[in-house]
Amino acid sequence: MLIRKAPDLTYADVTPKSVYLDRRKFLRAMGIVGATAVTAKGLFDLALPPQVAFAATKFTSLVNSPFSTSEKQNSYDDVTHYNNFYEFGTDKGDPAKNAKNFNTSNWIVSVEGEVAKPRKFTMDEILKLAPLEERIYRHRCVEAWSIVVPWIGFSFNSLIRLVEPTPKAQFVAFQSYYDPRQMPLGRWAGIEFPYVEGLRLDEAMNPLTLLCVGMYGESLPNQDGAPVRMVIPWKYGFKSIKSLVKIKFQQKMPPTTWNLSVPNWYGFYSNVNPNVNHPRWSQAKERRLGEIFKRPTLMFNGYDDQVASMYNGMDLKKNY
Ligand code: MTE
Repeated sequence: MLIRKAPDLTYADVTPKSVYLDRRKFLRAMGIVGATAVTAKGLFDLALPPQVAFAATKFTSLVNSPFSTSEKQNSYDDVTHYNNFYEFGTDKGDPAKNAKNFNTSNWIVSVEGEVAKPRKFTMDEILKLAPLEERIYRHRCVEAWSIVVPWIGFSFNSLIRLVEPTPKAQFVAFQSYYDPRQMPLGRWAGIEFPYVEGLRLDEAMNPLTLLCVGMYGESLPNQDGAPVRMVIPWKYGFKSIKSLVKIKFQQKMPPTTWNLSVPNWYGFYSNVNPNVNHPRWSQAKERRLGEIFKRPTLMFNGYDDQVASMYNGMDLKKNY
């Protein structure tokens, strides 16, 4: 595994472990590594296509964020084995099992719509857009559980400034990658893919809105939305779209997956609000993963100082 400073890190030269092992197998078969003879099994192995499995990239020189909570972080194990990523199955343990071989190489994020400078970004370009920060955020799922995660990324507004939205841009639409061949369980998830989400432009500009490329000091594991996702900590977790491929600036409010699926349960805003219950359960309390007793849920997930003013004069019961 290569360990380099974020600015000169390139995704292309991070060789996934399985590909590297495959290469060793090839060299060994050719008698270059070790003196193993070429066996029938060896030749059979060479015929297999290389599997691209997750290989974490370590990020060094991370900047600490003033937006970080000092609350106890959840373990890496919690955050990587209790996931919602319906493209890979609907059980919480499914994404860890089924996203193992998700191929995220040569990733491109297209930024388009009402911008003066539309652009397609490679992961290398995204990593160089701004200094990478560690941001420890509370992450509250609409299902009334929560976690504390040391994400890695930078304020999404660094990207927005670069592409220069036109005066017509009032909303930002986001779209996830979807490939039924790599995500066969998506057919049974009961929601439509590709997964789509959206924010108002001022919400997208808010410094808390994070373009996220990693967690716990490393690149994102597949089940947590590799290689790049959004994290919007004052909204329910489903707004934090994973494995992002398209960002479109537009005049109209964009459709969102859960609102399309169950409109009277999930609105566009989806701000964490203990006073507005889900039709099926209360949102007043939440269970932090790993804890027994529930804790009260905070308005805007405790980020009210930074975000409440964006909703002045709005009825948050109507605009749920
Ligand atoms: N993004 C995509 N593409 N597909 C999904 O199913 N689930 C959402 C969100 N982003 C989802 C998604 C939901 S419901 C939650 S709670 C968070 O991802 C979970 O993020 P985590 O698994 O990293 O905790």
